[in-house]
Parts: sequence; C-alpha cells; structure tokens
Amino acid sequence: MCGIIGYVGTHQAVPILLEGLRRLEYRGYDSAGLAVAGHAGIQILRAEGKLVNLEEKAYGTPLPGVVGIGHTRWATHGAPTEANAHPQVDATGTVAVVHNGILENYAALRAELRSAGVELSSDTDTELIAHLLGREEGPLLERVVRVLPRLEGQYAVVAMSTNAPDELVAFRQGPPLVVGAGDGEMLVASDVTALLSRTRRVIFLEHGDIARLGRGGITVFDAGGHPVDRPIETLDWDAARAEKGGYRHFMLKEIHEQPDAVRNTVLAYLDAERRGINIEGFGFDPHRLEKIRRVQLVACGTSWHACLVGKFYIERLARLPVDVDYASEYRYRDPLLGHETLVIGVTQSGETADTLAAMELGRRAGAPLATVCNVRSSSAWRLAEARLLTQAGPEIGVASTKAFTTQLVALLLTALALRRVRGLDDARDGELVAQLQRLPLALEEALGVPDELYRRGVDLITASADSLYLGRGMLYPIALEGALKLKEISYLHAEGYPGGEMKHGPIALVDDGFPVVAVAPRTPAREKLLGNLREVRARGAAILAVAEAGAAGLDELADLIVPVPDVDPLLQPLVTVVPLQLLAYNVAVELGLDVDQPRNLAKSVTVE
Ligand code: M6R
Repeated sequence: MCGIIGYVGTHQAVPILLEGLRRLEYRGYDSAGLAVAGHAGIQILRAEGKLVNLEEKAYGTPLPGVVGIGHTRWATHGAPTEANAHPQVDATGTVAVVHNGILENYAALRAELRSAGVELSSDTDTELIAHLLGREEGPLLERVVRVLPRLEGQYAVVAMSTNAPDELVAFRQGPPLVVGAGDGEMLVASDVTALLSRTRRVIFLEHGDIARLGRGGITVFDAGGHPVDRPIETLDWDAARAEKGGYRHFMLKEIHEQPDAVRNTVLAYLDAERRGINIEGFGFDPHRLEKIRRVQLVACGTSWHACLVGKFYIERLARLPVDVDYASEYRYRDPLLGHETLVIGVTQSGETADTLAAMELGRRAGAPLATVCNVRSSSAWRLAEARLLTQAGPEIGVASTKAFTTQLVALLLTALALRRVRGLDDARDGELVAQLQRLPLALEEALGVPDELYRRGVDLITASADSLYLGRGMLYPIALEGALKLKEISYLHAEGYPGGEMKHGPIALVDDGFPVVAVAPRTPAREKLLGNLREVRARGAAILAVAEAGAAGLDELADLIVPVPDVDPLLQPLVTVVPLQLLAYNVAVELGLDVDQPRNLAKSVTVE
C-alpha cells in the first residue's frame, strides 16, 4: 500500500526522498510525489505512474531544501491521477501532508469543508487532512492534537508547515510509521527498508502516537500532546539485504535465499545441542499453554496457505484441533474464543490490517496470543505475547516466497513445542529435528533443477489462459500457493484444488492441452492423486508434476516432471513449493511482466 518518507537534516532532501521512495516501491503504488520546504515556501512535485516519471520531473525542476516529505500512492479515494497524488496541500499552500490509510468520515468532512467555502482540488481524503490542519492556528504539533479527534478511520500521516519549516510532524492510527534517528538528520517512513541506508536506530510509533522530528532529535507524544517514552531500537538488518545482489529480480533472489532463511529459522529455536527445540525461545507462558484445548490460526493470502499446512502439523504432532480462518472473515463472524484457545496470527509484514484485527479479537477474549512474523517490532509483534520470528530477512518481492517457507518451519516448530508441553514427545522428535537441519540441503537440491525444465513448463502453462493445480493432504495448500504465485505475477488464471474434489466440478474445464500441475511427491495418498491425473489425462490435459525423480506411475502420465528430493512427509510442502515458485517466476519473465511489482498488488495490505 502507500509508502511514506520524510526527511529533516542538512542534506538536500530531494535525492534522499527519491531514494526512500525507490525502496518503498515494492509496497505497490500507482502515482508518486514529494514536497520540499525551501525559501519559496512548500514546493510540490507529483506524477502519475511509476517513480521514474517523478524522477524525470525532479531532474528538470530543482527543489532546494533540507526538509521534505515523499509518497507513493496506491489509489483508494479517486483515480491514480496527478491531482490525486500526494502530497496534498491546504487552501493557503502552507501545510502539506502525505497519508496512508482511509478516512471513514470522508464524506462528512468533505461536506463540512465545502460548506465552509473550501475549494477541493482532488478526490482524496488526504486533502481534507491538509485543510483541517491549515484552518487551525499555532504550532503544527498543537494543530495535529486538535485535528486528531476529528479523524475517523485508519491513517498514518506526515505533515509539514511553512510556520515551522524545520520540522515534520508524523502521527498514526493503524498503518505503521517508523522514525529513524540519524547523524544530524531524522527520518520517518512506512517501513524500515526506506531508512536502512541512512540509519538503523529507529522508533516504531504506537497507535495514537505523534512524533515531532527536528534536526536535533525526535520527540514522541500521545494523542493528547503529552510526551511519552519510546525506546530507540537498533536494527540488525543491513541495507545490503534489501538489494538485489546480482539477481535480475528480488523474487528470484528471495527464492534462492530460502535455504539460508530456513536454516536460520530452525537454528533460532533449537537447544544448545541442536537435538531438540528450545521451548523458552518461543516466549510462551507454559502454564497458559497447558490449558490450551484448541488452536486458531488467522492470516491472509500466502500466510493463510502456510496456516493450512500448520493445521496438519499441529493436529498431527500435538493432537490439538486447529481451525484456520481468513483474518478478513474471522474478524466479522463473532467467533467462539476463550482462554483455552491459542490464537496465532501468521504474517510476514506484521502489518496486515485484517490479521491485526483478528488477533485483537483474541486479545480481548483473553486468549493466549502468539504471532509467527517476519518483522520484529511490527504491530503484530507488539500485540502478541509470544512471538516466533521467521528469519527470512527483508522480503521485497510482492509475491511472498522465503517468508512462506520460513512460516512453515515456524509452524512445525510450534507443533513440536505444543507436543512437548502436552507430554507427547518421544524419540521421533529428535529424528524430525535432525531432518529439519538437513532441510536447507534439500532446498538447495530443489533449486538446482536445470532451467531447461522450466522453459518446457512455461510452454505448457502459457498454452492456456487457465490452469489447475492439484494436491492432496498437506500438499493441497501447496497447490493453492502455486496457483496464487502464478496469478499474482503472470496474470494467468490458475486454481488450486484438492485432487479428490476435481470430479465435483473443475474437471469440466479440462480439454486438449489444458495445463494441470500436480504436487505429487511420494505419500500414502499418491495413488489416489494418480487416479485423478489419469482422469484429466484421458480428457487431453497436459500434466506437469512435481515429484521425486523416477516416481513410479508418473512417467507415463506426466508431460514433464520437475524433480524434488525425497524428504520426510512433513517437509514435503517445503521442497515442493520451490518448483512452483520458479515456474511462476519463469512464466512472468517470459511474458515480460513486472515480477517484483505486479499490477494492482501491494506488498502489505495495511487497510481493509
Ligand atoms: O504480510 P502478510 O503475510 O500478513 O501478508 C499477507 C498477504 O497479503 C500476502 O501473503 C499476499 O498474499 C502476498 N502477495 C502473497 O504472495
């Protein structure tokens, strides 16, 4: 969703703002803009489309000044035009704001300002904030405090004013904002990737916080304008981890980072001898855990697919019933919740609005609340009482890859932890822990498949506008994930289905050359899946199977087999998803599409 950057310092603001915006591009956007406070007051540049359009304008229109704000906009209120791009200014041109979120009382505020004679120049809710601030008097911080009670909804805003041209005021209710303390310069951004090249010392603002940034430092206030203490944290992510590192796309780099990401996640939760898990590392209160009778997993998108696999892990190993819900549905369905239900929000970003709302339900019901999350200090991280950090590092490609595989590992470790708490652990756990430590090697092997196989896979998939991905058991979520990857970055329609359900409808789609992708490694249910494949084959389907080399019965059925190593059944979801990620990647590259920033998508969905 929208990206925000703000800078107060001694260097020219424009190049710093543009660099910050470049690093926020992955969040998804359709227009961009910046404002700088200089001798001529606040000057604004905005452009439709990609950042390069704004950059071209910036080269032709020097905007001197050492204080500024910038924005990438993902359109909500109004089309992605230049007039609707941010920053938006008030009627006098003395206040400029950038905003991420949605004002729910937009219509009422718009009507009120219009009847007060304010001429609106955009369709945005953001412009209303600029006018409200512009119509107040006094220092910007005081104006913000007076305007805040008038704003309903979710917002993260950074404002600047000609009355105090050396400072920025940032405030949030919902979408994240992080402020960075550099050397004689202060920054604010939607996420840390935009700050890393200038500082790793950051403060994550809480809901309702207001931060005033001046060259000399940052002061944080509550919504009433009273100073509050917020610790500065030093991040261990460095800027290089958010670079492409020689790969053509972030997605490809992140696919190849999976062995390391998985290794780091496994090792973070093992005991000193690496023979079992270190249960203290999870941060669970063991007494609370002993009382748990069921588990509720909530998430969106790819993280929801990870939860579907997590259900198999927890039910099989810890013998606890698990429900998996889309967070966006769960939050509105008055779920049954109490102290006996462990609620786990699974989220790469830790900022997905629906996942946070679903977790908040759990918190209010007194349920033990945990998160599997990739961003330390994110909103989910701070909301949960127990946290499992997936050690994937920054994930920039919009299509999630390494976050997914590390989520699977984290959920498997959680299942082992619950198993231990319930006294069910035995010698087999040690063997599984050993296999987990060998998993990075298996992932390397899965990544080593020759490109030629993917070229044939691309031909097979691109022969049709639709395809079907089939799997069974814990590989059905992998079929869903493979289909989602293809849809997201290639814009080709694909559906994931449990093999056994195919005869109940989707088989009607199959005709000559219709692509069917089968997630078919060795499992007790493989014979059943082969039966499904024979049925689609008989109707002319072209079959691409992911299975261990030489899989009996598949040779004569499949047009193409992408081999994966033969691993423990619990680890099959991890090795089989890799070829599906690479297949989607190769299709999108072949079609000449923007792999890392697919149209209409945002990396993290911070509003409903
Ligand atoms: O940050 P989160 O894990 O909470 O994000 C959830 C989804 O928005 C995300 O997984 C989305 O589906 C990705 N684009 C998938 O590739």
